Amino acid sequence: MYTTADEQRLYQQAKSLLSSDGANAEKEIEQLREVINYADWKYYVQSEPVLADVEYDALYKKLQHLEEQYPEQVTADSPTQRVAIGLSEKFPSVSHLVPMLSLDNTYNADDLRDWDRRCKELAKTDVIEYCVEPKYDGASVSIIYENGKLVRGATRGDGVMGEDVTINIKQIRSIPLAAAFEKAGLDQVEIRGEVVIHKEVFAEYNRQRVAEGLSPLANPRNAASGTLRILDPKEVGKRKLSAILYHISYYTQQRGKDVPEQMHTHYDSLNWLYQLGFPTPVKEMQRLNNIDDVIAFCEAFETRRDDLPYEVDGLVIKVNSFDMQDQMGMTAHHPRWAVAYKFKARQATSKLLKVEFQVGRTGSVTPVAKIEPVPIGGVTVTSISLFNEDVVREKDLHIGDTVLVERAGDVIPYIVKPLAELRTGDEQDIVFPTTCPVCDEALEKPEEEAVWRCINISCPAQVVERIIHFASKDAMDIRNLGGANVQKFYELGLLKDIPGIYNIDWDAVRQLGGFGEKSVTNLQTAIENSKKQSLNRVIYGLGIRHVGETMAKTLANAVSHIRELYDWDEEKLVSLEDVGPKVAASVAHFFHAHENRDTIDTLEKAGVNLANHHKNKAETTGELSGKTFLFTGTLTKFKRSEAEAMVEEKGGSILSGVSSKLNYLVVGEDAGSKLEKAKKLGTVAILTEDQFMDMVNG
Ligand code: IVH
Repeated sequence: MYTTADEQRLYQQAKSLLSSDGANAEKEIEQLREVINYADWKYYVQSEPVLADVEYDALYKKLQHLEEQYPEQVTADSPTQRVAIGLSEKFPSVSHLVPMLSLDNTYNADDLRDWDRRCKELAKTDVIEYCVEPKYDGASVSIIYENGKLVRGATRGDGVMGEDVTINIKQIRSIPLAAAFEKAGLDQVEIRGEVVIHKEVFAEYNRQRVAEGLSPLANPRNAASGTLRILDPKEVGKRKLSAILYHISYYTQQRGKDVPEQMHTHYDSLNWLYQLGFPTPVKEMQRLNNIDDVIAFCEAFETRRDDLPYEVDGLVIKVNSFDMQDQMGMTAHHPRWAVAYKFKARQATSKLLKVEFQVGRTGSVTPVAKIEPVPIGGVTVTSISLFNEDVVREKDLHIGDTVLVERAGDVIPYIVKPLAELRTGDEQDIVFPTTCPVCDEALEKPEEEAVWRCINISCPAQVVERIIHFASKDAMDIRNLGGANVQKFYELGLLKDIPGIYNIDWDAVRQLGGFGEKSVTNLQTAIENSKKQSLNRVIYGLGIRHVGETMAKTLANAVSHIRELYDWDEEKLVSLEDVGPKVAASVAHFFHAHENRDTIDTLEKAGVNLANHHKNKAETTGELSGKTFLFTGTLTKFKRSEAEAMVEEKGGSILSGVSSKLNYLVVGEDAGSKLEKAKKLGTVAILTEDQFMDMVNG
């Protein structure tokens, strides 16, 4: 798609656009689109980002502003048009150009050999080249391009009629909005593929759902297909869907043009699509000359299935030659030239033996199902989180139930449902405790929450969990200070709280069984090294409610030392990007509490880094740091892009709309609705161009 020379040119183009002045708007708009499409392709298709996030954002904003100034230049395939405004109505039904068929399944080598035999009979040949690729476990979609532009995206539906979800398909940044099909002589092209959600995105999404008291989704497939049907495209954009496209199902040719040379085999067609910028399985797919090699490939691949970032539930074997495919045809249900080889199921049934209640670091009491041990996908499952009381009630679970358990990849095991038809009548209700199973204090359940909590902050279970969290990999990354050691040290009185990590009596540790000099030294080194961790890790490690890794970064970036946060009230906190009232309340509450301030002081005395050095550097030039700006109307004294660059240079940031997070609205001539909205809000300072200049010039 891009030659090395293209890539070098586009990279340079990106750099020069970052500092350009917008003098030749038309040309610049075109160049910005070219560069942004290139950056999207590098990031979403190749997974090799070429621009820093801030650079990308700056280019994107530039394009947005130029298009705002020259609305006649906006085209449907501009990268800015992915972000839709407003909500979709119900999705209209649309009929597919060709029915979206299913696949026939095979489960073992014998099934595959049978299928190979049938193929050879149908194709009347002894030699068939196959192409094998993963079977992605997501939601299948059809995407149509006309004259090189994406015009429609639809779900599978019943295979004949699907739902028109174009607006949501456009949120998937790996799917090009335009592609050079005309050059190859094609008018209309329909591409099929799978919309998937990466396992880690899925896990994070479920963590959030559970934190909000919602039941987690069973698997990434449900999450992908559910997300495609969300009516708010902005929300869809946030969910970070991915796509893999694996089939050109239909195309029409321009009059007099030959079939493109790449359109003779499946393998070439997917390589070609990849060249055109599409996410296709080029890295995973394999051409093989006989069924024995196919079988060997399938068996080897199954052992590696968890290495992929998304779920695959098998492989798909396709006859490579399109002529041969045509000759073999389809049944009403599936093509005869393709077959799925399904991996071992990751579902099993087991018996729910009892429910235990675990106390987490925030005091939340989580029901955990203990089941009869059952192997699923190579792991023996004995214990499954049930998240909260609502989930238990919703699923109508009882002790003694036979339950269907699913373990999708490295996603945590999950009870899908009880098999009510197998009940004997001896099943028992699951009784929730009213006091903490560890410290015996009464439990509380705030009305708006789904979990019961132990509110005794000295509850041993919470203390231990807090220390474990602080030392964990994503926080301070103190290797070997995991659950078992923390628990042991706590029980022996060697570790009472988080700062205690930096004041362990090592002689006492040496006397414990199982601690040789080497493990003591390793642990000491890991603890010592953790003192240099960045501030965002410390903030994350402190375990403030609703503050995950991303939020911890936002907070750390906003200050040059953690102590500054002592003075931030909720109002100031919500001015930060993505900080809502819930987070703000929790953060403000945390930093006001004396015991937390004591913890922070003790950490500092122990030599733990609590400063944001990066910020300290920016601060010397950044007198606008933490301040947000928006420009509206026709600016006469300076160019919008220059003014924005000035703000950013001085540490401020530009917002895209008027909201309570906006500090300053700079108004030029003929300002309209933004000015009205800012006035109505009453919290935004309104500046003339001159006032703004005075401000930035100190
Ligand atoms: S080919 C006519 N290739 O699996 C073409 N399908 O269980 C038929 N699927 O409906 C589809 N990965 O949604 C094909 N690499 C792949 C696939 C794939 C996943 C899905 C597809 C299909 C379902 C059948």
